[in-house]
Amino acid sequence: MPRSIRSFCTLWILWAGLAAGQQPNYIGAGGCASSNCHGATSAAPEAESRILGNEYSIWSVSDKHSQAYKVLLEPRSKRMAQILGIADATKDKKCTSCHAVGSPERSVSDGVACEGCHGPAEKWLGPHTQKDSHAASVAAGLIDTKNLVVRAKTCLECHLGTGDKIVDHDLIAAGHPDLAFELDTFSWAQPIHHREPKPAAGNTLPRARNWAVGQAVAFTEGMRLLASRANRLWPEFAELECYQCHHDLRADSWRIQRGYAGRRPGSLQLNQARFDVLRVMVEQLAPSQSGAVNGAVQQVASVVSTRLGDAGGVASAAMAAARQGDALVNAMLSADITQEKARGMVKALVGDIARIAGNGPHSAEQATMTLDTLSAAYLGNQPAAQQAMAELYNYLEHPSLYQSGEFAALFRKVAAKVQ
Ligand code: HEC
Ligand code: HEC
Ligand code: HEC
Ligand code: HEC
Repeated sequence: MPRSIRSFCTLWILWAGLAAGQQPNYIGAGGCASSNCHGATSAAPEAESRILGNEYSIWSVSDKHSQAYKVLLEPRSKRMAQILGIADATKDKKCTSCHAVGSPERSVSDGVACEGCHGPAEKWLGPHTQKDSHAASVAAGLIDTKNLVVRAKTCLECHLGTGDKIVDHDLIAAGHPDLAFELDTFSWAQPIHHREPKPAAGNTLPRARNWAVGQAVAFTEGMRLLASRANRLWPEFAELECYQCHHDLRADSWRIQRGYAGRRPGSLQLNQARFDVLRVMVEQLAPSQSGAVNGAVQQVASVVSTRLGDAGGVASAAMAAARQGDALVNAMLSADITQEKARGMVKALVGDIARIAGNGPHSAEQATMTLDTLSAAYLGNQPAAQQAMAELYNYLEHPSLYQSGEFAALFRKVAAKVQ
């Protein structure tokens, strides 16, 4: 940006800041879209620019976040609103808290815009174009998405939910998709609009690091959300394994074949997806924490299965698990996942796939995304591997037809192709 424009921006922003008081305002995606800022039509060569420069085009053309408001105008959103007694999905916080974030009122149709993830730009828009301004921008309200923990938490605010941004069983039963998340897979699906991180000393496979930190943060935040739900309105069916209730009744049920692993037959089962893969990850990458994490998780699952009505017991077990999770996040931030370790992790996952698959389609989905992200980390984005992965994703498209034995066999087959 030429200096004159930059200082103009700075002045305007200072004025706007004073006018608005303390809480910084959103500027809107249009404020980032100038062709010499983030609105170029193609990516700049790396030698010329640290950033791609075409972030706005990527977001507006390929990134579903730019459509997040528009889906609220579709018939399925209207029906959802009708069922839930919401007058207008495009105006109600029950929907806009996740579907319209990062824009001022006049450009709310931008959905989840730049500032939805990067923070309100009023106070950092001008200054952030200066060299080495990152720390100052963060102090002025830029969300530090370079920090993997901050990044994962930012995504999870909407892709898991919080006390104020809620996708619960009421919304799901009204037609909202069920939420699942894995940081690295979702970052590439978004798709990423930053340069692919390069291997560094102590961080041999950056994508595997993203996955590991993402798993640990999702577990921790998931346990905190479970605790807050238990404290507010319990039981919350969205915390339980969905298909234990939503399946056909068949004499040759795979659940009966699998057995109930220490639980009373037919007792309710916590959604294990947040820690089924995590458990294998801890054994491989932080074995000294394995006993404590497993013990804490086992306690949560057991309170849910044996004393579902004991909301206080669920909440305190979940908080204890979240504290284990915090220590795990720190361990994952410094774990160096080498090629050998990533392949070892895949091998361990294959070894444990019968147990994981037995906990249902959500756990199977986490195992699938993990295989995808780890194999991409050590193989690169190879078309043959992606084709093999598609078989697993396709299988999971029909969760009510899911059979744990069938999934486990397919997982072993696909893993052999990408190992
Ligand atoms: C906690 C945040 C959150 C809230 C609150 C929320 N949503 Fe969503 N919604 C999401 C996310 C995240 C997705 C994408 C899920 C995925 O594909 O993994 C989504 C997906 C959708 C989709 C499917 C879009 C598509 O492209 O297939 C519709 C429709 C939708 N939401 C409507 C609504 C409506 C209507 C409300 C209010 C009643 C609402 N949402 C509330 C986070 C939220
Ligand atoms: C869904 C969340 C999300 C949205 C929406 C989003 N970003 Fe990003 N952006 C990220 C993440 C995560 C990164 C990678 C971490 C980083 O480099 O800060 C990133 C990286 C960047 C980078 C590279 C930063 C660097 O130092 O290398 C730029 C520039 C950027 N985004 C600009 C934009 C613009 C402009 C928009 C809107 C057109 C936008 N982003 C929308 C999440 C988002
Ligand atoms: C402010 C809320 C919000 C934040 C923060 C957010 N998302 Fe989303 N995300 C959504 C909503 C809402 C949708 C659904 C949009 C649609 O389908 O039109 C979505 C959709 C997606 C999709 C498409 C899913 C699909 O089924 O095709 C991906 C991938 C995604 N988000 C990744 C991310 C990542 C990675 C981050 C963090 C860097 C992130 N999101 C942060 C709200 C958010
Ligand atoms: C403890 C049992 C239980 C659990 C666990 C549960 N549900 Fe439900 N679900 C119900 C009941 C009961 C209804 C209401 C059925 C009715 O009124 O006809 C329902 C309704 C629904 C509906 C709308 C009706 C239909 O048949 O499609 C959807 C969709 C749904 N649930 C999805 C989910 C998802 C996804 C999960 C997991 C995140 C989940 N449920 C967890 C019991 C459960």
